[in-house]
Amino acid sequence: MRLQEKTAIITGGANGIGKETVQKFLEQGANVVFTDISEANGQKTLAEMKDKFENVLFIKHDVQQEADWQNVVEQAVEKFGRVDVLFNNAGLYSTNAVVDYSVEEWNRVMGVNVTGVFLGMKHVVPFMREQKNGSIINASSLAGIKASANHTLYGASKGAVRMMSKDLAIEVAGDSIRVNSIHPGIIQTTMGDAVAAGINVETEQIANGIPLKRLGTPEDIANLVVFLASDESTFITGTEMVIDGGSSAR
Ligand SMILES: NC(=O)c1ccc[n+]([C@@H]2O[C@H](COP(=O)([O-])OP(=O)(O)OC[C@H]3O[C@@H](n4cnc5c(N)ncnc54)[C@H](O)[C@@H]3O)[C@@H](O)[C@H]2O)c1
Repeated sequence: MRLQEKTAIITGGANGIGKETVQKFLEQGANVVFTDISEANGQKTLAEMKDKFENVLFIKHDVQQEADWQNVVEQAVEKFGRVDVLFNNAGLYSTNAVVDYSVEEWNRVMGVNVTGVFLGMKHVVPFMREQKNGSIINASSLAGIKASANHTLYGASKGAVRMMSKDLAIEVAGDSIRVNSIHPGIIQTTMGDAVAAGINVETEQIANGIPLKRLGTPEDIANLVVFLASDESTFITGTEMVIDGGSSAR
């Protein structure tokens, strides 16, 4: 029970990495408020979790909307009394040549991947500050550190998440609030499949190119997020945690 008595908000929790993290957090004793833009997937995930756990709440939420964030944080505090952890996980993937990008697509992805993360941090920090305790974990990507063709938009959004996390870590360190970014390589989710399709490579071939010879799983990422949320990592802030089976080491 590494997260006993902690309350966490997890965005994009209906699917993929977010869903696995909701489950791991519940297994580790946390109260979990998970959100997603998809009401149908959110309700489906909630029903699965409710089979085993009581202390879980789903709220439909578009991370780009400030009023939605106010509602999520207020409901978390009303139901569980505090907010100890925010996992800003919701995100969109996009790939295209820079000359082919429309401003609409640019703003769509930046709105979720960057504005969504900013709003989450903005709305939990006042509560964490009062508690003098908190851990914010932001989902960046290997694409926030390493360059690829046709990745200007996704790379820019994830690079922004990396730097926003470091800047906020310095700003709130005096209040014992920690902020870290995580940087997964390709993970087996709906989005991971889209990444593989975008570079037109079979997943088996991608796995062969990774030193640990496999793709990452949502569980790999959820385990890292549990660690960063827990009191086992209280001296870790402002850092970027790469989790990629060794791909970026060479
Ligand atoms: N899968 C990968 O290979 C990979 C690699 C590196 C980083 N990441 C990052 O990890 C995070 C999770 O990725 P995933 O693979 O689980 O993706 P996914 O597509 O499986 O799940 C993302 C979830 O976010 C939700 N979402 C999308 N827009 C939203 C919005 N405006 N408001 C609220 N929820 C919204 C979706 O409905 C979905 O349930 C993302 O930020 C992604 O960029 C993923």
